[in-house]
Amino acid sequence: MLKGAAGYVRPGAPPVKKHIKTIAVASGKGGVGKTNIVANLAIAMKRAGKDVLIFDADLGLSNIDVLLHLAPKYNIQNVLSGGMSIKDIVVEGPCGIKILPASSGVQELTALDEFQRLKILEQFDSFNDDVDVLLIDTAAGISENVAFFCVAAQEIIIVVNPEPTAITDAYALIKVLNTRYQEKDFMVLINSARGDKDAMEVFRRLSAATLQFLNISLDYIGFIPYDKNVRNAVRSQKAFIEMYPNTEASIKIGEVAEKLLKRERSDVKGSLQFFIGNLLSATDTSR
Ligand SMILES: Nc1ncnc2c1ncn2[C@@H]1O[C@H](COP(=O)(O)OP(=O)(O)OP(=O)(O)O)[C@@H](O)[C@H]1O
Ligand SMILES: [Mg+2]
Repeated sequence: MLKGAAGYVRPGAPPVKKHIKTIAVASGKGGVGKTNIVANLAIAMKRAGKDVLIFDADLGLSNIDVLLHLAPKYNIQNVLSGGMSIKDIVVEGPCGIKILPASSGVQELTALDEFQRLKILEQFDSFNDDVDVLLIDTAAGISENVAFFCVAAQEIIIVVNPEPTAITDAYALIKVLNTRYQEKDFMVLINSARGDKDAMEVFRRLSAATLQFLNISLDYIGFIPYDKNVRNAVRSQKAFIEMYPNTEASIKIGEVAEKLLKRERSDVKGSLQFFIGNLLSATDTSR
């Protein structure tokens, strides 16, 4: 026990790490709205008083920096190759959210030698106190990289839209995470729905399949309606929640943020170091 009833910390004891929430956002099918959801969710959480760090784990081109009109000079590669700290590469986005541009450095992150592993763990450890919530924007598809980030996070949000291919790809991703990595807890966020009923129907179809074939009961976390202002904001390289605070999508993303912040998972540890440690060990055992 490090901490007594009166909050006394034994001298010399390692400091108790601040508990942070780590949430991976994935989809299977590309283009269903992950990056938009991560960016706007981050801002909504920041407005609710949380320090949010976005981990851009997508190697592709349509990244969070383009969406938010940011121009990061460095990425995690510069930390791995030495000389730079996490603090040096993190860029500030709207409302004071932080973005860690992993991007092209992601591949390197999952193939580190022992020395590099310790170095990166130390780096994340020193940044832990600056963060309450870590949101991970993953790439499309069912690559090992996507799986590693999902496995390393405490919680997984599967984004799906009403297209049949989005539903089958979401199912395929859940199946891989379950059968290969024993994941069984998934939240589902329906994007681009026509309304409540449409969203519930998509959820019903996906959850019926996971229940029947994988024995997994999914957790519905809400829906974001199809909203033309989302597209308008994307075109202006601005977050829709900032540009159109009263549009339907902004109101709904605010509700999802609130719901996520209220969820407490006491069975899982949460620190940046723990997340990155999980990530590195997932990549290690798979080799
Ligand atoms: N709720 C919505 N209403 C209307 N359009 C939307 C909505 N959500 C996303 N879009 C549109 O879909 C496009 C793709 O969104 P986004 O880039 O966030 O998807 P993604 O899942 O991150 O894609 P990728 O898999 O390529 O990373 C956006 O440019 C936007 O125009
Ligand atoms: Mg994206």
